[in-house]
Amino acid sequence: MNLSKSTKEPLCQLPEVVIVGTGTYLPSKILTNYDLEKMVDTTDQWITERTGIKERRIANEKETPSEMGAEAALIALQNAGLTPEDLDLIIVATTTPDTIFPSTACYIQQKIGARTIPAFDIQAACSGFIYAFVLASHIVSTGSARYILVVGAEKLSTIIDWTDRNTCVLFGDGAGAAIIAAGKDKNKRLSFNIGADGSHWQTLYIPAGGSKLPLTPQNINHKLHYLHMVGKKVFKLAIDSMEQSLLRCLKNAGRSLEDIACIIPHQANLRIIEALSQRLHIPSEKFFVNMEKYGNTSSACIPIALHEAIISNRIKDGDIIVLVSFGAGITWGSVLFEYKTKKMESLKKEEIALIGQ
Ligand code: ACO
Repeated sequence: MNLSKSTKEPLCQLPEVVIVGTGTYLPSKILTNYDLEKMVDTTDQWITERTGIKERRIANEKETPSEMGAEAALIALQNAGLTPEDLDLIIVATTTPDTIFPSTACYIQQKIGARTIPAFDIQAACSGFIYAFVLASHIVSTGSARYILVVGAEKLSTIIDWTDRNTCVLFGDGAGAAIIAAGKDKNKRLSFNIGADGSHWQTLYIPAGGSKLPLTPQNINHKLHYLHMVGKKVFKLAIDSMEQSLLRCLKNAGRSLEDIACIIPHQANLRIIEALSQRLHIPSEKFFVNMEKYGNTSSACIPIALHEAIISNRIKDGDIIVLVSFGAGITWGSVLFEYKTKKMESLKKEEIALIGQ
């Protein structure tokens, strides 16, 4: 795959941001590979060797994406030393919204008790959090918002055919959140690369449930409301798109791979990350991997991994970090930024220029 046909690189400069707080919510119910052995014709050995996944979390009826997202958001707020009233905008990345409308972001706004700030969802499948992160970074940099809550929340267990061993072993539920504020140094060379190639839409999609093919008993009988995937094709597209997106991101920032302390990739399949590591000659230790515990939680993968990397001290103040993902669409995205641990409570409000205030 060649990304060059899709963009003339108009978008590449990432404004400096501070991640003032992160949080996650993972349902307590664990579904192991051994549990799956009892459900479909599979084995722990096959799943472990072909994907790197050992177990995943499954949400209960009450654990909707907005519930999980709100819990993750409250933890992120607490870690930031902020209250919901401090937020100026909520962006939620999800492929499995609570309802087609209103947005999951609106439910989260109400659940956490935020003000009547703008709230909306982004749909870029597994790349959703990176799309939202890029958007939020630009908005805070203009001064139009001081603190933006970015959430990735998914309940993929509801769109999986639990009799299809090709897909049901891969996915899990959960949510992650980050609160983003503007950085002070306007001259830092940081970058992003996001893109999409809609010609591959059929490799990963849900045929029914939208306005093109509304839900009917017949469509449900034909299992058209479940995720359909051409696994091998997605596998190849994932490696190609993440490799090229990551390289562009580095080039745009004028950085080399040696400058990067940690890469947080989409957690779809360990073999995808290993292929990326081999192609780019990146030591595997540079990748933060937690898919063995949660599987692929789509847009929640990156914020969950980011939070875990932060609380485990895998990433430290001043480290250059890259987030990189791909997803249905197909979409891809990467961001390169300097991680700042500075808590907002220690940042004087006047340090941030707010336009219009
Ligand atoms: N247990 C045992 N056997 C299995 C299982 C399973 N769970 N699943 C498939 N198999 C079988 C297949 O039926 C096939 O058998 P056959 O040769 O008799 O037909 C054999 O294993 C090999 O199947 P492949 O599809 O060739 O296996 P592959 O090595 O490609 O791995 C996988 C399949 C894991 C799905 C891989 O292709 C993959 O990870 N693809 C990317 C998926 C992905 O990342 N999706 C998410 C995208 S992000 C988003 O937006 C949601």
